[in-house]
Amino acid sequence: MNFNLATTAYLGAAILFILSLGGLSNPETSRRGNLYGVVGMALAVLATIVGPRVAAAGVPWIIAALLIGGSVGLYAAKTVKMTQMPELVALMHSLVGLAACLVGFASYVDTSVQYQGAEKAIHEVEIYVGILIGAVTFSGSLIAFGKLNGKIGGKPLLLPARHWLNLLGLLAVVWFGREFVNAHDVQSGMTPLMVMTAIALLFGIHMVMAIGGADMPVVVSMLNSYSGWAAAATGFMLSNDLLIVTGALVGSSGAILSYIMCNAMNRNFISVIAGGFGGGAPAAPKADGAAAEPQGEVVPVSATETAELLREAKSVIIVPGYGMAVAQAQHTVNEITKTLRERGVTVRFGIHPVAGRMPGHMNVLLAEAKVPYDIVLEMDEINDDFPDTDVVMVIGANDIVNPSAQDDPTSPIAGMPVLEVWKARASIVMKRSMGSGYAGVDNPLFYKDNNRMLFGDAKKMLDEVLVALRA
Ligand code: TAP
Repeated sequence: MNFNLATTAYLGAAILFILSLGGLSNPETSRRGNLYGVVGMALAVLATIVGPRVAAAGVPWIIAALLIGGSVGLYAAKTVKMTQMPELVALMHSLVGLAACLVGFASYVDTSVQYQGAEKAIHEVEIYVGILIGAVTFSGSLIAFGKLNGKIGGKPLLLPARHWLNLLGLLAVVWFGREFVNAHDVQSGMTPLMVMTAIALLFGIHMVMAIGGADMPVVVSMLNSYSGWAAAATGFMLSNDLLIVTGALVGSSGAILSYIMCNAMNRNFISVIAGGFGGGAPAAPKADGAAAEPQGEVVPVSATETAELLREAKSVIIVPGYGMAVAQAQHTVNEITKTLRERGVTVRFGIHPVAGRMPGHMNVLLAEAKVPYDIVLEMDEINDDFPDTDVVMVIGANDIVNPSAQDDPTSPIAGMPVLEVWKARASIVMKRSMGSGYAGVDNPLFYKDNNRMLFGDAKKMLDEVLVALRA
């Protein structure tokens, strides 16, 4: 394939990636968006392999690498559970970071192209910045992976003088950058490059370790953005326009998503990056499930009593959370919704922006179960309606309905907007135990007079509710 043809193919792929992002912004067009992305990526890979910059002798190596990488990816995609998706995404981000580092070192030691003067300086800055972003993305994403799958505790690690440490690291990176660009040969440039890589790796670990459990969504989307910039940096090092465009698309869309997340959680973006949010109270024994100190008595109900409450209601709001995803209860939720609507009950869904473990987690599950989109509302659209609602059914959600975010300034989730379910006439919380949610804090909602607890696996309990409703 000649240069012009390869450039045209790259342009086509870039357009398909933009269409893909557009399609993925809405559940109705997301399948098409996915398809655009797949076709765009196939075109990009093909144009690169048969393009003018790959020698024929290298093609078998690339195909072998594609087969190995593709098989691992296919296996991971087929076996991963929906609830493990964020961990997988974090792991993928770490690979993008690692690739940027490896390409950076390879470009530096590669002497087949001789750069001179300003061109040499630009190339070296590209390598230095590329490895810097790649190393932060690599180590930060690995820590995020550990925190998301529970291997590393959700409690923030707040080193004394951590902001000074970060500043010191930044100054050292700038100083070693100067040494690197001024180095006369590869041998003398290698030391500052490796020292900077070590600092960047430590910074990535420190940055994510300092972030509290409840702020992980922002970190995941921030690392998504970093991985895009790491890919763009790789594109600069390899002089590959498509990688630059694609990396910039991922980098900027990830940055916009992080900004939206910060707004949704009432967090200051810079403060989240610098660490320390989510660490206000002595709570959080461990992320996911550890029981916090009980604050009073709760009133349990049975599935039959729940069905009765629902049958008598005129308006119902369902608030799904991570537990609905774990239990895979979305299809039963849809059946209950249909049954109630057939009986004239108004049923709507209230979706918190960080419900579950990834952006849009609940929307994807409800769309999969074919819940009509027009009754699935965002938090801002539905929060004022709780006082006029008869029954709220909270299915496996915890942090996103925790009133202490509003009432307790010392809470790790203080200031985070929540769904005000306690303002409804009655609420029913469906979960297996009194265990806490991701942020590891107790939930005063459970002890409110108008709240009932339906203990058990969400799918099992909802199946029983459905049988009782239809009886
Ligand atoms: P959580 O606060 O994590 O609460 C989920 C609850 O589901 C748990 O308290 C658990 O209680 C219950 N549960 C688990 N398995 C269940 C099952 N099989 N049946 C019934 N209940 C089950 O979830 P949330 O309210 O959706 O809030 C999300 C949290 O995750 C926030 O803190 C958010 O910041 C964080 N987070 C979000 C994201 C994104 S982007 N969405 C990413 C990372 C972290 P039991 O153990 O008692 O059953």
